[in-house]
Order: sequence, then C-alpha cells, then structure tokens
Amino acid sequence: MPALIHPSILSADFANLERDLHAIATADAAHVDVMDYHFVPNLTLGLPVFERLVEVSPVPVDGHLMIADPDRWAPAYAEAGAASVTFHAEAAQAPVRLARELRRLGARAGVALRPATPVEPYLDLLAEVDMILVMTVEPGFGGQSFIDGTLPKIRRARAAISEQDLDVHIQVDGGVSRSTIERAAEAGANVFVAGSAVYGADDVPAEIETLRAMADQHTH
Ligand code: DX5
Ligand code: ZN
Repeated sequence: MPALIHPSILSADFANLERDLHAIATADAAHVDVMDYHFVPNLTLGLPVFERLVEVSPVPVDGHLMIADPDRWAPAYAEAGAASVTFHAEAAQAPVRLARELRRLGARAGVALRPATPVEPYLDLLAEVDMILVMTVEPGFGGQSFIDGTLPKIRRARAAISEQDLDVHIQVDGGVSRSTIERAAEAGANVFVAGSAVYGADDVPAEIETLRAMADQHTH
C-alpha cells in the first residue's frame, strides 16, 4: 500500500492559504482542520472558507472535523467537494448513519479516534468507513509530540482490516515527522498528516518527498 502524505494547513499562513496550498501541490491531499471551540479548545475555519479551499486547492481536500454534533454539520463538507470527510467518534451520535450519508454525497468517510478512545467498538463496522484516523496527539493544536502509546491501536486496527480483507486507510495525525513516521508506518498507518514538519521545512516539496520515501519503506 503506497504511503500518502497529507500536509496539514493548520501550520500554513492563514493570511496566505491559497499560496500555501500551492506549496504542497506534490502532496496526495491537503488536510484541513476544522475546529469549533467546543469539541476542542481551538477555533480555525468553517464551511465558507472550506468551500473556497476546495475550489482553489491543486490537490484533493481531506477534511478533519474536530467539531461537536458532526451528524448535523459534516454532510455540508462533503457537499462542498471534500475528497474525504472525517468526523470524531466521540462527537457523533450515529456514526454509521453519518458515514453512509457522507458516502452518498460522494466523499470518502473517515472516523477519528482521540488517543484514549478504543478502536474495538468500531472493528465490526469497518466496512462502513473508508478511513480510520488514529489521533497521535490530543486534537486541537499543531506542534505537539507524537504519543507512542497509540501504536498498538494502529496495529490492532490494521490487523482487523487485513483479517476482513477491506480497503480501509489508517491515517495518523499529530507529531508526524521524520523521527516518528517510520514507526507509524510500521504499525500499519498508510496516510500521514504532517503540519509543522512540512510547513516548517526550508524546502516544502523536498520534505514531502522525504516523508513519503521514509514511510514507503515501512508500510506493509
Ligand atoms: C491537530 C490537528 C493536526 C495538526 C497536526 O489537532 O488535527 O492536523 O495540524 O500538526 P503537527 O503535524 O504539527 O502535529
Ligand atoms: Zn487534523
């Protein structure tokens, strides 16, 4: 499974989002973090900005919704043209209904788990989603350090996906960099979000390529 690199524009310049999307034109998708001051203690951007980002992005947009009540708010992000819409398991009332709705609207559906949320309740529902996002930091802010305690969860999720012969991606988000990407890949992740590691690099395209090559050597 080839490694996919999704830089997070949370570490971009919010006054120059279009320019900074073009800086990652060689990435596989742009990861856009939507935060609402309720589900997480931070606020980023909402639907009107998201819609414009989809329009101007040179790569598909991967929406990560860190918001309360995604059952109500997430479908509009699929309607906006996101390639994938990921909502948090902890916030959703009816995750299967929501995932089905996102797929019906043409987006890939992702379910995100905070570091302390177990994956086991979702293992029998894997066929309903296209991606599991294992948060490798507590959601809310960029630049935090990778939590190694999430690696066993990634391994268990990957084993269940293989056992059921499904094509479900495992995304990791938070603290992903040259020093952590290999162990995330080795554990079974195949989609790698990196904010500060990519946008903080002197040469952004080169950093994307380096991270992709490192992950590729360790993905299964
Ligand atoms: C954090 C966001 C991440 C964030 C990652 O809650 O979901 O996408 O941008 O930033 P880094 O890669 O700097 O940890
Ligand atoms: Zn994110």
